[in-house]
Amino acid sequence: MTVASTSVFHTNSPIGTQSLGERTGAAAQPGEVWLLIGDLGAGKTQFAQGFAAGLGVTDDVISPTYPILVTYTTGRTLLNHIDFYRLEDESQLADIDFDSCIAPDAITLIEWGDRFAAARRAMTGVVNITIPDPAIPDKRRIEVIQLR
Ligand SMILES: Nc1ncnc2c1ncn2[C@@H]1O[C@H](COP(=O)(O)OP(=O)(O)OP(=O)(O)O)[C@@H](O)[C@H]1O
Ligand SMILES: [Mg+2]
Repeated sequence: MTVASTSVFHTNSPIGTQSLGERTGAAAQPGEVWLLIGDLGAGKTQFAQGFAAGLGVTDDVISPTYPILVTYTTGRTLLNHIDFYRLEDESQLADIDFDSCIAPDAITLIEWGDRFAAARRAMTGVVNITIPDPAIPDKRRIEVIQLR
């Protein structure tokens, strides 16, 4: 695995995390696959909402925990927003036709994306979100790793 760049950011509010997502989405290219990693409530969906806005998505971006996959059409690409949280076994990826999500004309963002090997093989970037200090509940450390 080649790491092309790693950047570390700190945000102090949900809006701050959305803004970082927006900048990341604005720079994203079709074909990219981003894994969003972090505990429950870390801010993966907040980041994804900003990312979608950065791509030009104007629809409301919901948490995909229940639908598992939501696809948005943007001005320049498709955005597949996926959440692996409720999936217990990699074979369930067939239910959302995961292989078709990974396509040259689509960008795929996967919450809990490190859980399954198929996503780890396809990933082109990783966003790691942590709460660095439990005494400061609105602070997040966000590492953005571009792999290629
Ligand atoms: N700096 C911050 N960045 C992002 N979210 C924050 C921040 N500070 C507080 N929050 C709050 O943390 C929560 C993050 O929720 P979000 O749904 O984005 O988490 P998630 O990682 O997607 O969780 P899940 O694993 O349940 O999908 C929201 O309630 C948000 O208001
Ligand atoms: Mg979420």
